[in-house]
Amino acid sequence: MKAAADDAGARAVSAPLKVLHAAAEVFPLVKTGGLADVVAALLPALARAGADARLLLPGLPAIADAVAHQRTVCEIGPVFGAARVTLRCGQLPFTHVPAYVIDAPYLYRRGGGPYEDAHGVEWPDNLQRFALLGWVAAHLAAGELDVAWAPDVLHAHDWHAALACAYMAAHPAGACRSIFTVHNLAFQGLFDLADFGLLGLPAAFRAPTGVEFHGQLSLMKAGLKFARRVTTVSPGYAREIATPEFGFGLDGVIRGRGTDVSGILNGVDRELWNPRTDTALAAHYDAEAPDGKLACKRALQAAAGLAPQADAPLFGLVSRLTAQKGVDLLLGALPALLRAGGQLLVLGSGERVLEEALQAAARAHPGRVAVRIGYDEAFAHRLIAGSDVILVPSRFEPCGLTQLYGLRYGTLPLVRRVGGLADTVVDASDTMGATGFVFDDATPVALADAVARAVASYRDEPAWRAMRRNAMAQDFSWDSAAQAYLALYAQAIAGG
Ligand code: ADP
Ligand code: GLC
Repeated sequence: MKAAADDAGARAVSAPLKVLHAAAEVFPLVKTGGLADVVAALLPALARAGADARLLLPGLPAIADAVAHQRTVCEIGPVFGAARVTLRCGQLPFTHVPAYVIDAPYLYRRGGGPYEDAHGVEWPDNLQRFALLGWVAAHLAAGELDVAWAPDVLHAHDWHAALACAYMAAHPAGACRSIFTVHNLAFQGLFDLADFGLLGLPAAFRAPTGVEFHGQLSLMKAGLKFARRVTTVSPGYAREIATPEFGFGLDGVIRGRGTDVSGILNGVDRELWNPRTDTALAAHYDAEAPDGKLACKRALQAAAGLAPQADAPLFGLVSRLTAQKGVDLLLGALPALLRAGGQLLVLGSGERVLEEALQAAARAHPGRVAVRIGYDEAFAHRLIAGSDVILVPSRFEPCGLTQLYGLRYGTLPLVRRVGGLADTVVDASDTMGATGFVFDDATPVALADAVARAVASYRDEPAWRAMRRNAMAQDFSWDSAAQAYLALYAQAIAGG
């Protein structure tokens, strides 16, 4: 162990630490949620901190067609039903992060989303599609696919890449250590246990001590069980997932990993999310010169069809519209929000009943409630800049990024006290450093109460200005997250 620690120390001086990230999404090529933002920002931050950080991605059309300067690394024979699989390496557009792409047209080159077809139905061959991602990651990690490069650490994200940890445990080769990050325990990658044979893992892994989970096959569990270290995206969520309330049945597995599990808070991409330079905005502003924010609000009200009332507190929501995100709580609290003189603007898509209920509310309250169903990156920036309050009333939230974007844009977050939301927002009742509004119970009444408190603060201009200044002074930087990951990598290497 001592020798390994010394090696890690020597490496820091001599050669950069080599880390391979494996993920299914990266902004702006493929994004269904915050995972894509994290992957896009974390690798450049690791590179700034001196690491040789590379990314492995499935060759979905938006990825395979956008990665620049691709060269063939190796041809991989028929595997997981694909006749031809080729590993290529190029660079991500914009950030120039080195990216390996698994070119497997049979499994990846199709329309629709990364996990579902255009109608929202999961791809029937997702097990093969994501087994391939994990398998290639593990073989790259073992130094078997790229003669010129092998990582010291493999960092797999979410269930999509989790099998890499099981393949590495099954065939330990080389000194590479695995790290697994849980971005959302609710999405577990569950499959029919009868298909276990497709994976080519040892039969012993078919057990509850392996990837079996209540009669199913769980890819999430492959990461939780077999990674050397497990992280999640906030310290709060790291504690929560060890409890039955938030553990989705995996809390026992997580408790079993003891101190191998930790939380590292996500950051904000400070170039992409900067009210001083954001090209999507009608006007620019910052903490010293906040006036442009009002111009953003007026432009947003006009674009959304809301009444042009500068003094109506504007509540915004940018979100997947699901039960996780507490959209039903918001619908329940809407009458109180309107009674208090507020306006509501929603951008999102998701569960049909929630979309329809929001649209019905917009029809019932023209000029006061507006809803845009769909996905629109530029409008998300305008909404976050132009609103007074950004709502994140989630039932659970591993980290949450929109409250961080809100803080940076001086749009005060109103959040539930869970996971990363509790870790990043300080309630107005705190006399020092308040940045937003935090409520406890997952009920419309508790949310309505927080809305009333927000409106009262909004009417108290000096107090509001002070909170906005505090919010904009927060520094959730990717550089400190990158340092925390590097420390963890060093520990994993030293710990054997
Ligand atoms: P999650 O990953 O659980 O969906 P996060 O808050 O971590 O939640 O990340 C959501 C990301 O997706 C943010 O970048 C947010 O701005 C973005 N987003 C969510 N819905 C939309 C939408 N309809 N249009 C544009 N961006 C969206
Ligand atoms: C997940 C979580 C979200 C987190 C994001 C990025 O989608 O739901 O809370 O911010 O991953 O880590």
